[in-house]
Parts: sequence; structure tokens; C-alpha cells
Amino acid sequence: MVAYDDDDDDDDGVVICGAAGGIGQPLSLLLKQSDLITHLALYDVVNAPGVAADLSHINTRSTVTGHGKDGMEEALQGAHTVVIPAGVPRKPGMTRDDLFKINAGIVRDLAEGVARHCPGAFVLVISNPVNSTVPIVCEVLKQHGVFNPKKVFGISTLDVVRSSRFASELSSAIDPKTTRVTVIGGHSGVTIVPVLSQIPGGFAQSLSKEQLDALTHRIQYGGDEVVKAKDGAGSATLSMAHAGARFTNAVLEATVAGKTGLVESTYVNLAADSESTAAFRAKTGLEYFAQDVEFGREGVSKIRSLPALSEHEQTLLDAAIPELKVNITKGTAFITDNS
Ligand code: NAI
Repeated sequence: MVAYDDDDDDDDGVVICGAAGGIGQPLSLLLKQSDLITHLALYDVVNAPGVAADLSHINTRSTVTGHGKDGMEEALQGAHTVVIPAGVPRKPGMTRDDLFKINAGIVRDLAEGVARHCPGAFVLVISNPVNSTVPIVCEVLKQHGVFNPKKVFGISTLDVVRSSRFASELSSAIDPKTTRVTVIGGHSGVTIVPVLSQIPGGFAQSLSKEQLDALTHRIQYGGDEVVKAKDGAGSATLSMAHAGARFTNAVLEATVAGKTGLVESTYVNLAADSESTAAFRAKTGLEYFAQDVEFGREGVSKIRSLPALSEHEQTLLDAAIPELKVNITKGTAFITDNS
């Protein structure tokens, strides 16, 4: 039985920053279905009141409010959870650096807002490049003295979703809905390491090297399929909204409803569980990493140790680590060098 919180503050309010965008709108629609949310606050620099008015007619529990350009403070005030899909998506011909420059500033400004108006909130980052935007959020919160590593997450769930789906296309024994694949590393290209060897029934072991390489590449670069097919009209939005809602619901189930045993792969600051990750941090020098995380009332309750990796996966991880370090440093330096 879910314990609802019906007092006047916003301690089970969820804010979506970038709510009128390609991801923001379907994500808001999916979260409007949740019984765990009393207040869904939609913030965007354009069109948020319209999206909010539309969603507010749906007969589910939450009240929906829309907050335009000057409404960030009002939207964030006292929030329980802040989900950030604000930014620009990748377009054909756009370099990662172009994307970084724009989105880094947007995410920094939103993190400043979180630090000022809801410093205890769970912060769930979708805006890319996640490998760098999560360190940006953490650095801003550190500067304000309100950083809690257990409460900041990079949503890498789309890699997990794609892994399950793409694997199921190669084997009828795999139910894409119930087969959860651990994805470690980070959330772009070579930093995405799907641990396919853990799929029960010897799935990965039954594939040829070519098949395994092709499947891994498809998961790592799945976003490119969508960018190409949309032909200039944006990147993954609907599948991302599904992944974002799945992750946000898991966080809410654990933190609002107190459900235990929930696990998702997510990109976090390893200080969230310094004990379990001490040896890994010492060996790799990484401060951030995507791994299976167990959720609790406080957010991260445990970062699981690495699963046993096949030789193929170990090679992928070895390639991921240097790239991840560059991405993390870039995010961290964006704040520390400009302050
Ligand atoms: P979009 O352009 O359709 O929507 C972004 C929204 O953010 C727009 O409505 C825009 O007005 C809003 N926005 C811009 N600056 C803002 C600010 N300072 N405050 C509040 N809102 C602001 O883009 P889309 O497709 O929804 O993608 C959003 C982000 O998600 C991009 O960074 C994209 O790269 C990323 N993404 C992440 C994925 C993941 O797996 N984590 C997958 C796909 C995209």
C-alpha cells in the first residue's frame, strides 16, 4: 500500500525542465499516469503553459502546472524530483562539441536553480552528453554546498531498453519486456558497455563474433539510427520518454513509496556508495560510472560491484574508460574553470 503525502508542501512534486520539447511532452504524459506524483510542474522557456493545460485535463491524481521562461523558481520551489530533458538534440552534421557548448550552459543554469530552490531534490539528467552533464550538475551543487551524490542520476535507461529490444530481435527466447540487461560505463558511443553475457540461456555465447560485434555496435550507436531516420527533425524522443518514465518511476517507487529491491543501470557519482566502489575508483581513477544501482528511500542505496565480464566485454570496458575520463573532465572543468 502506497503511503500518500497530502500536505501542502511539494515534497512529492516532480518538475520536468524542458517539458515542452520532443522528449519533455511524451515524458510528461507518461508521468501524468503516476499515482505517486501529487504535483507535476512543467517548466520550459517556450509553450509550457499550453502543454500543462492540455495534460491537466487527464483524470489522474496529480495537479499539473505550467511555468514559462520566468517561472523557473516557481516551478522548482521545494520539489522532490527534478527531471532534466532541456537542451538541444543532436542534428545531422552537429558535432558533440557543438551540442556540449549549448547544453552544458542550460544544465548549469538549471542546476543553479535546483541548488537555490530545491536543494534536497533528486536530480535526473537526460540532457546530453550525459557523461559530462551529470558532472556539471554535481559541481554546481558542490559549489552551493548542497551536493548529495545519492541524489543525482544520469538517465542511461535508453541503452538498457535498446539492449533488451535489440537482443530479442535475435532470439525468440528473449522477452524484451522482462529481460533486463545491465549496461555499464557511460552513455555515449564506445562508453556504452552492454553486459550481454548475463542474459540467461547462453544468448551471447550462442552468437558468432560478427553477430555480437554488430549487436554491440547497434546498442552503442542506436541513437544514430533515429537521428538518420528523422532526417533533421531531431533525435530519439518517444523511446527516450519511455526510458525516462521507467527510470523516474523507479526512483519515485523507492523514495516516495518505500519500495525495495528496485535496480536500474544508471550513471552516477561513485561517491554515492564510496565503500562498494573504493577499489574500482582506485583502479580506474573514475569518479562517475554507469552500473546497476539499488534504490532506497535516500536514492542510491547500493552501487553493485561489476558483474563478471566476458573477454569481449572487458575489451569494451577498457576502451570506454579513457573516453569516459575525457568526458568527465570536460564536464567538471566547465564549472570549475569558469567559476
Ligand atoms: P527538443 O529541442 O525537442 O526539446 C528541448 C526542450 O528544452 C525545448 O522545448 C526547449 O525550449 C527546452 N529548453 C531549452 N533551454 C531550456 C532552459 N534553459 N530551460 C528549460 N527548458 C529549456 O529536444 P529533445 O529531443 O527533447 O532532447 C532534449 C535533450 O535530451 C537533448 O539534450 C538530447 O540530446 C537529449 N537526449 C538524451 C537521451 C538520453 O538517452 N539521455 C536520448 C535522446 C536525447
